[in-house]
Amino acid sequence: MNPLLSQLQPYPFERLRQLFAGVTPSPQHSAISLGMGEPRHATPRFIQDSLAANLAGLASYPSTAGEPRLREACAAWLQRRYRIAVDAGTQVLPINGSREALFAFAQTVVDPTQAAATVVCPNPFYQIYEGAALLAGATPHYAPSDPARNYAVDWDSVPEAVWQRTQLLFVCSPGNPTGAVMPLAEWEKLFALSDRHGFVIASDECYSEIYFRDEQPLGGLEAAARLGRSDYRNLIAFTSLSKRSNVPGLRSGFVAGDAALIKAFLLYRTYHGSAMGPAVQAASIAAWGDETHVEENRALYRAKFARVTPLLAEVMDVRLPDAGFYLWAGLPGQLAMSDADFARELLAQYNVTVLPGSYLAREAGGANPGARRVRMALVAEADECEEAARRIVQFIQSRS
Ligand SMILES: Cc1ncc(COP(=O)(O)O)c(C=O)c1O
Repeated sequence: MNPLLSQLQPYPFERLRQLFAGVTPSPQHSAISLGMGEPRHATPRFIQDSLAANLAGLASYPSTAGEPRLREACAAWLQRRYRIAVDAGTQVLPINGSREALFAFAQTVVDPTQAAATVVCPNPFYQIYEGAALLAGATPHYAPSDPARNYAVDWDSVPEAVWQRTQLLFVCSPGNPTGAVMPLAEWEKLFALSDRHGFVIASDECYSEIYFRDEQPLGGLEAAARLGRSDYRNLIAFTSLSKRSNVPGLRSGFVAGDAALIKAFLLYRTYHGSAMGPAVQAASIAAWGDETHVEENRALYRAKFARVTPLLAEVMDVRLPDAGFYLWAGLPGQLAMSDADFARELLAQYNVTVLPGSYLAREAGGANPGARRVRMALVAEADECEEAARRIVQFIQSRS
């Protein structure tokens, strides 16, 4: 067996299953889950139709690079969304959802023969970054998000010696679980560090289309272009249809950025065997070409957050995030319990599932930035989300 497998941490939902083992959820309440970040709005009909109309493609092997029409649709979307020029032939590649690609990209980039190869990632973070780093033979370094600065990651906390051996940096904007969007000044700082130390930046942007303010979240490639880095050197952005178009089962997204990185990634993927099926490619072209369904989807999330956030803000440290579909809430000071106890007791008393924040973060520098926080995914239907919020308010009031 690959000895690196033993370094992998149990996935947060596995830990949640263990935490809930032996708990009997309150039978007086219907079950409501705010646990898993899985989109639950309906998949638009035209995407389903496009998939069904293209099944003839099942009779042939797809190429790893994808159809030129798909890459052009991705580049055209980037142009419309971020007003940036990306070459469809050399700077775009389809991926089967961003999860597999985030993982595979680390395997492409990391050179484990270099001493103490390091991958820096935010803390809390999407656990794939850590697993990808470990299986690539690197050591993860965790940079904490700072609640006092809208959960911006404290990149200044990373010691110079760590940056020197860093080969890959994962950033997540809008962030999971914090919802924080990185402003241009933060990108400028990271580009300067990347130039100085030669590391690659992998920018995970799968929540970019679910936002709550008028200003659209800044993208990594957009930030690079604004700062005159139109070759996107050492930068690659990961974009996905899963959340934007409510198709987590389609497994479709794309990466775009530095042509040299795309070339190496294509080579890796050719051997890895991760090409996108032709029917999925056709449905993806249709999805990237339409914004109406994305606006409708965003409106649903906005309405939900507008109903739920003020209720919870009365009893918890929580506010409307910049973007994404999570509330990242701090437990009230007077409630003397851990985030895991909170999740377990809430399930037992009110049949509502939330994810303990400490499961999404690592202890680093003596603290776990997820401790005494919980993540709530507002993916269920609006009435259910509001009902869950009311139960959480009652739960906290009953324990305070
Ligand atoms: C931060 C983040 N990145 C990537 C993904 C992967 O999404 P997908 O593989 O569906 O594109 C998720 C899914 O929950 C996520 O939360």
